[in-house]
Amino acid sequence: MANFKNKVVYQIYPKSFCDSNGDGEGDLKGITSKLDYLQDLGVELLWSTPFFPSPQRDNGYDVSDYCAVDPRFGTMEDLEELIAEAAKRNIGLMFDMVFNHTSTEHEWFQKALAGDEKYQNYYIFKEGTPDKLPTNWVSKFGGPAWEYVPSLGKWYLHLFDVTQADLNWENPEVREELKNVLRFWKAKGIQGFRFDVVNLISKPEIFEDDLIGDGRRFYTDGRHVHEFLKEMVRDADIGDMVTVGEMSSTSLSNCVRYTAPREKELSMVFSFHHLKVDYKDGDKWSLMPPDLMRLKELLTTWQEGMQAEDGWNAVFWCNHDQPRVVSRFGNEEKYWKESAKMLAAAIHLMRGTPYIYQGEEIGMTNHHYTAIDQYRDVESLNYYRILMENGKTSDEALEILAARSRDNGRTPMQWNDSHATGFTTGTPWIIPPENYRQINAAAQMEDETSIRAFYKKLIALRKELDVISDGRIEFLMRQDPRVLAYRRYTGEQELLVLCNLTGEDASVSVPAGWENATLLLHNYTSDLTNILQPYECVALLK
Ligand code: GLC
Repeated sequence: MANFKNKVVYQIYPKSFCDSNGDGEGDLKGITSKLDYLQDLGVELLWSTPFFPSPQRDNGYDVSDYCAVDPRFGTMEDLEELIAEAAKRNIGLMFDMVFNHTSTEHEWFQKALAGDEKYQNYYIFKEGTPDKLPTNWVSKFGGPAWEYVPSLGKWYLHLFDVTQADLNWENPEVREELKNVLRFWKAKGIQGFRFDVVNLISKPEIFEDDLIGDGRRFYTDGRHVHEFLKEMVRDADIGDMVTVGEMSSTSLSNCVRYTAPREKELSMVFSFHHLKVDYKDGDKWSLMPPDLMRLKELLTTWQEGMQAEDGWNAVFWCNHDQPRVVSRFGNEEKYWKESAKMLAAAIHLMRGTPYIYQGEEIGMTNHHYTAIDQYRDVESLNYYRILMENGKTSDEALEILAARSRDNGRTPMQWNDSHATGFTTGTPWIIPPENYRQINAAAQMEDETSIRAFYKKLIALRKELDVISDGRIEFLMRQDPRVLAYRRYTGEQELLVLCNLTGEDASVSVPAGWENATLLLHNYTSDLTNILQPYECVALLK
């Protein structure tokens, strides 16, 4: 089985990473041109979000052909070159499989629309009349999860955008098609796959109204999901690859099953509970400061719970759907550097495989847009409208978007302080934050105290120390709302990690026996005392 415990995965959002031809959008050649940068950082796996043909309603998560490259990103030759050049640098690629739904422009859906019953069976169509939705389920991007097709007299299910039609996994032909997609990409020599919202693939037998929720309880971690995953992994022969499933609103017990090696499903999973601790009443579009105690509790529960049953977490703060972590749980002004480093250490020294999202390693921040026309994301644009329909003023809605929009994570990678962050010679498809003149990769490359240097150290340490890649974890100071503290251990080594999650001093007592331990990592230059300074983190080894 592939070793994914001592590696760090770097996530690339191609549209915003590097533009090689000046059209304002990133592309595959752009990624290839930055492989030296990634090799220098030390990452050994790259997950790229989709670059397949797509009308781009949801930036590529609406795939219209699973086995080709969208011309906006380049050609199949460019992709093969990327794979080969990455391999020369000991970097493996992971592709993003969006198998819960296809774009409505996919050939299968087009045939379904034209009346072909075989292909209607690839999706979830329900007979009906335009005045009566099949169920009251809500789309994750707002509004009803069903769309009526008058020419067919049928509704189809879309848990996401109306142009993302859910596939019918109950149909064995669909499963076979998707296995072929995996076989196709595996043969290209890639190392792994990320499976988009893969715990939503198994829908219930009976479709009924959800009287207490938005419908998710009927299809999340659905009745056949484990069976479907096992079958797919076995038949497509991807059990030796690195696989990560994105699990939406999932449960710990299911994530154990998705990842415990005996189950032969996936290598690891993303779960998101810890990224909802600043959602007021669980609502993404309602702001509140992060509940740090809750954050600690969730990290503890998931780390210990997965460990107890031999499961494996992907550990992360950022991705293309999340605001930037330094703006969210850190302090992007007064303690920008300290808090970015502390947040990195908190995650990278845990049990699990860490993911770095492009720009996180240089402390990129949220964008701070002030007008709706600066936004590009379909979810943000939908919710701007919905928030106003629900009585918010435009300013209030913009304040919420500025904190929560997925576009926060989608601004161009800040390479240097020249035109458009050095991302493109043209006009970027989305406006970069103004701070790129200070916050950029070039400025941090030669600086040993930079956030990037700190990430580089963390990546190297994971390769060197078994206690980081393989050690067990135990949480300490559980009642303290300010300090995240844990111990990692193997038979030979022990690691103690203390992270002050707040912008205030926090007192700690270093546990007995650690007085003479080696200082492995620290984000302040001053000595470690019994007071942790704002966002201070320290790792001790013995
Ligand atoms: C996942 C992706 C997100 C996309 C959604 C629908 O959550 O990360 O970007 O919009 O799935 O495919």
